[in-house]
Amino acid sequence: MVMNSVYRVIISTLVLNQCIAYFNVDNHDECFCQLSGNIDECTCNIDTVDHFNNVKIYPRLKSLLLKDYFRLYKVNLKRPCPFWLDDSRCAMKDCHVKPCPPEEIPEGLKEDMQPKVVHVDPQPKRKYSKMVNEDCATHHNDLDYLNKTISEKLQKDLQMWEAHDDALDNFCDIDDDDENAEYVDLLLNPERYTGYAGPSAHRVWKSIYLENCFRPKKSFNFNPYIQSNKLNELCLEERVFYRSISGLHASINTHLSAIYLLSKNNGFVLGKDEEKWGPNLEEFLKRFSPETTNGEGPNWLRNLYFIYLVELRALAKAAPYLENEEYYTGNDSNDWDTQMAMKDLLHIIRSFPDHFDETSMFRNSEQADKLKYEFKQHFRNITRIMDCVGCDKCRLWGKLQTQGLGTALKILFSGKFDGITQFETLDSHNKKEFQLQRNEIVSLVNAFGRLSNSLYKLDDFRQMMRERM
Ligand SMILES: *[C@@H]1O[C@H](CO)[C@@H](O)[C@H](O)[C@H]1NC(C)=O
Ligand SMILES: *[C@@H]1O[C@H](CO)[C@@H](O)[C@H](O)[C@H]1NC(C)=O
Ligand SMILES: *[C@@H]1O[C@H](CO)[C@@H](O)[C@H](O)[C@H]1NC(C)=O
Repeated sequence: MVMNSVYRVIISTLVLNQCIAYFNVDNHDECFCQLSGNIDECTCNIDTVDHFNNVKIYPRLKSLLLKDYFRLYKVNLKRPCPFWLDDSRCAMKDCHVKPCPPEEIPEGLKEDMQPKVVHVDPQPKRKYSKMVNEDCATHHNDLDYLNKTISEKLQKDLQMWEAHDDALDNFCDIDDDDENAEYVDLLLNPERYTGYAGPSAHRVWKSIYLENCFRPKKSFNFNPYIQSNKLNELCLEERVFYRSISGLHASINTHLSAIYLLSKNNGFVLGKDEEKWGPNLEEFLKRFSPETTNGEGPNWLRNLYFIYLVELRALAKAAPYLENEEYYTGNDSNDWDTQMAMKDLLHIIRSFPDHFDETSMFRNSEQADKLKYEFKQHFRNITRIMDCVGCDKCRLWGKLQTQGLGTALKILFSGKFDGITQFETLDSHNKKEFQLQRNEIVSLVNAFGRLSNSLYKLDDFRQMMRERM
């Protein structure tokens, strides 16, 4: 695995160089693979991050995220969109969410645990969208199918998890305590192309950029994104916010292009066995090449590196806490393995020499409080917009990744984690203060895993670009 990664890095460096050479020769001086040099707002450069991620971080995360602790994410996917009439279900042509058959639910779960763990609502009722649902019910789009199966063994374990977490007496987030929240197995529902597109998907991103990001005073709203040469009109904190959102967007688009449904037949999806998934270079180019993005694609990819560094730094900052977390699943030997794997990962993360420096933010004290407040409001709002995503699978991953980013921002800017180097030495009151909830940890590590995966997949696309030349 490591050898393989080393090999990939060497290849990617070669490709990168060749790519630059190629484009220079041809006088196209813009290409998505031209990325090099420093990452904005940070002192480290792209090559360093590529190497660090692909060789050291990616392989470790890949095995870590298979652990039970990290694969089960608790989420409420049934909240109605608070901002506009949710007419998006038709975009997916599928309203069907398969419930767990009653006989698969253990007795103990059927009563009070039931709403938390299993989804038994055969027809998801979204406000206003009933008619639309009925209209759509005749179509099927397997791409958005969310497999909510949880093995009987795990369902039993989940009761123990809940009991364990409740006993910790940490304050509850609204979402986590939500009685409609249920566990979803992330490994059964990989983030990949779903066909979710068109006005509904567009509207989600548009409202995030136009209504929930800071914008330069005289910006025109033809394009939801901010042109990179206008970004300097924003202050550092506002740019950091914008870059994080843009980086998240780029990461999601990279995944959708990297796991694309390749075999289709007249627009009808073939039977499950015949589905073929893989990278789609055309899709990637459409989303990122300068020709189709008004020259902005490469900047969006740079923002992907940026958000990677933000979450990397958050993990490093919370490391004293995370190293002491139990990663409780009730199986001592598994929990021990998870804890060791986390310690190993955190050790590597801490060794990264050029961490993002969050201490340069919110310094001007007069402005800082107001700005911090706005930062928080904007971000909260974005997590609520995720309830307007009209495709279950996209909503699942959208919520997970925004919660992960939110946790990272909380670690970096709440002040709670400042100056903590040794968790053991804290008294019990302070220990409680620094506590992160299970779902915050699960979302942060998985969100970072998604970014790590995106950087890794970028290499595949560089390779494909080269083969094509
Ligand atoms: C859902 O996942 C379970 C467990 O892997 C599998 O047995 C089942 O066939 C899946 N359901 C569908 C419809 O793919
Ligand atoms: C929250 O987002 C909605 C939808 O984009 C927008 O209309 C509203 O102004 C936002 N509110 C805040 C406080 O940012
Ligand atoms: C814990 O998990 C391991 C690996 O999945 C398994 O072999 C072992 O039997 C489990 N132990 C208990 C006590 O369930």
